[in-house]
Amino acid sequence: MKSMLCSVLVVVTGFALLAAVPEEKAPRPQYDQKGQLIRPADYREWMFLSAGYGMNYSPAPDSHEMFTNVFVQRWAYNAFVNSGKWPEQSMFVIDERDAASRSSINQKGHYQTDLMGLAIEVKDSARNPDKWAYYFLAADGQTADAMPKGNPCWSCHDAHAAVEHTFVQFYPTLKVVAKKFGTYNEAREQVTEVK
Ligand code: HEC
Repeated sequence: MKSMLCSVLVVVTGFALLAAVPEEKAPRPQYDQKGQLIRPADYREWMFLSAGYGMNYSPAPDSHEMFTNVFVQRWAYNAFVNSGKWPEQSMFVIDERDAASRSSINQKGHYQTDLMGLAIEVKDSARNPDKWAYYFLAADGQTADAMPKGNPCWSCHDAHAAVEHTFVQFYPTLKVVAKKFGTYNEAREQVTEVK
């Protein structure tokens, strides 16, 4: 009898916990005991914002042109669509892929190949005094330390992104949303050379 009561209690507590973290607000950023960000396992199933090819912030010729695929959690995307703002614990992942041109029947243009690394951005005021934190993971990297304010990641995003720290000027489906809610900084569209 006692053990049955116990299992009922376990089940009830389980449901209560599930209710506390609604399914639609997962996944959230996860950290290990050292405070390092843990690589999000399923980011390729998140909402896709856009892809860049060979995007570069300096006019100097670059030897290695890559694709950049940007993803954000679906629950954060939904919140943005309803407010033009990013909720706490929004997380963005750039999946950086090598580019190739001639293979199989392809004669020109470029397609994506191997994963080169992940660039990650998290909005988490409770953990980061400067609200936004940046991380870089090698293709097979599992955890990374935050690169806080003062780092080029933080500074460039702060100085040039059109909505909070995110480059919505390059995400066509979100740009219209941010404009509708008045959270879009038009001036950030001006062609600027980053020194
Ligand atoms: C000189 C400016 C600059 C620097 C430095 C920079 N970024 Fe970005 N970042 C951009 C631009 C422009 C985009 C949007 C275009 C794209 O998809 O690449 C972007 C997009 C992103 C995104 C997708 C979400 C968003 O904010 O739009 C992530 C994640 C990101 N960067 C992480 C990083 C990390 C991590 C670093 C440092 C290792 C970094 N960035 C350094 C300019 C910069």
